[in-house]
Amino acid sequence: MCGIIGIIGKAPVTPLLVDALKRLEYRGYDSSGVATLVNGHIDRRRAEGKLVNLEARLASEPLPGTIGIGHTRWATHGKPSERNAHPIATDRVAVVHNGIIENFQELKGELVAEGRHFDSDTDTEVVAQLITSYLEKQMSPEQAMGKAMERLRGAFALAILFSGRHDILMGARRGSSLAVGYGDGEMYVGTDALALAPFTRQVSYLEDDDWVVLRADGCTVYQGGFEVKREVRQSGISGAMIGKGNHRHFMLKEIHEQPAVIGDTLQTYLDPATRSVTLPVLPFDWNKVSRITMTACGTAYYACMVAKYWFEGLARLSVEVEVASELRYREPPLPEGGVCIAVSQSGETVDTLAAIRYAKANKQTILSVVNVPESAIARESHLVLPTLAGPEISVASTKATTTQLTVLLCLAIAAGRARGTLSPEAEARLALALIELPAHVNQALNMEEEYRRVAETVLAEARDVLYLGRGSSFPIALEGALKLKEISYIHAEGYAAGEMKHGPIALIDETVPVVVVAPTDAIFDKTASNFEQAKARGGKLVLLSDAAGVGRLGNQAVVSLTLPTVDPVVAPILYTVPVQLLAYYTAVAKGTDVDQPRNLAKSVTVE
Ligand code: AGP
Repeated sequence: MCGIIGIIGKAPVTPLLVDALKRLEYRGYDSSGVATLVNGHIDRRRAEGKLVNLEARLASEPLPGTIGIGHTRWATHGKPSERNAHPIATDRVAVVHNGIIENFQELKGELVAEGRHFDSDTDTEVVAQLITSYLEKQMSPEQAMGKAMERLRGAFALAILFSGRHDILMGARRGSSLAVGYGDGEMYVGTDALALAPFTRQVSYLEDDDWVVLRADGCTVYQGGFEVKREVRQSGISGAMIGKGNHRHFMLKEIHEQPAVIGDTLQTYLDPATRSVTLPVLPFDWNKVSRITMTACGTAYYACMVAKYWFEGLARLSVEVEVASELRYREPPLPEGGVCIAVSQSGETVDTLAAIRYAKANKQTILSVVNVPESAIARESHLVLPTLAGPEISVASTKATTTQLTVLLCLAIAAGRARGTLSPEAEARLALALIELPAHVNQALNMEEEYRRVAETVLAEARDVLYLGRGSSFPIALEGALKLKEISYIHAEGYAAGEMKHGPIALIDETVPVVVVAPTDAIFDKTASNFEQAKARGGKLVLLSDAAGVGRLGNQAVVSLTLPTVDPVVAPILYTVPVQLLAYYTAVAKGTDVDQPRNLAKSVTVE
């Protein structure tokens, strides 16, 4: 969602602001803008649509100044337009904002009653008008900011520029993330370390309710009326990590990074010498866990669905999996002694965050699997098991997913060992399957031409596509359908293969491709029956299987993709790769914006 950058520097800041906004594009946006101080006055350029439009504005109307703020906006209140694009400004302040000001109607009412005139449809404008109102009542910028923090409700990150004040820039956070960067005679504030990466790797993260006053040589952080200290750390993200390399899209680059990042993740959670998993000490005893509740959104939710099969099968533990947006409001009873596992790439997804807060309030131990260790979900968990995927830029989650699955399988193996449901021999067998997984994923990646052909000849022309799978392949069918929908805009449904005959079979005719995820496992014969039922209705069957499966069903498919033969337990991780590439090449064939699909955001920080 929205991206924020602020710089108080020595040189003209506009090129740096735009450069940072490019690194924030991945979050999803529909307009952008920058503001600087020019001879003490706030001046801004804003544009609807992609950053190239803003760059064109800046080319015709350059914006000088050594202090400024910038923003990529994902519309929540007010349609995407130049008028609603940030920075939102009065003659005294300019504000950029990520999140939602929940009491904006109430505040707007008060401010309009004071005689203030609003120029935009945004909730953000109440922040600008409120601070302006305080400044006009002779408060200092610091007093005005402190007072505004008391009045604002909701989740937000803010950066604020004050007219006539070349010496200060302010930031604030409640809920949404905000990082402070320390440079040499320059200071920065930004949504994340990625935005700041080429400027500095010295960062600190604001905590909820913090607000910060930046000066060119340092900053002061406040919480309530008091000064507080926040640790300055060396960010692990370098500017070099966030390029596309030789790939056309970030998504393709990230898909190809999977053998390496799965390998990096395994190095942390598995000992190849002893062929056993090695987890940190857990804050609970697997034999005393009353229940496991798993929660996440989107693709991360499907990773949880796969993990349910693993926890149940390997550790005989009962697991509830629920999308976070439902769990948080359903308010289910959670028995004391339960563990809540939250899975999130960004660690900032607001529904997942709210779900773990609910679980924590109900005395659950919170274990999170996240890719951004300094994120809110990580910070609010009792234990974090990081995925080592590195920065994921493409909106479509790929390498984060396969590393999430890798961590969750290691966790399920550890649970099985602790509960005596998994023998040392079985653990060693699974450890070996995991050790061999990066090589198998690599083999699956080497079939790229085949995915491209299927995408171009079968999927790209379709109006609807059905994905089927059974057992732990069912969530992979769901994931395949989600990936296709989000980046190619083709309607797709994922279904449990056995459930097809209860409704979706009515959709099948010779125009509907049916992608069947079918590694040879204990229930392959059942999937094969469903495959034949779909074939009998004229469906265009695309088979994803191994040599044995293709040998058995390949002659009935319009196309079969033969993946490496692996232990069925790790198959969901491997089979995630072909469904990613089928979606990718379909999107490329359709000419959609692969890395920034319409309406979507990378980090979903609003409900
Ligand atoms: C994945 O391709 C999606 N863009 C989306 O479903 C994503 O997985 C979801 O929004 C959850 O995000 P998170 O992992 O950062 O919490």
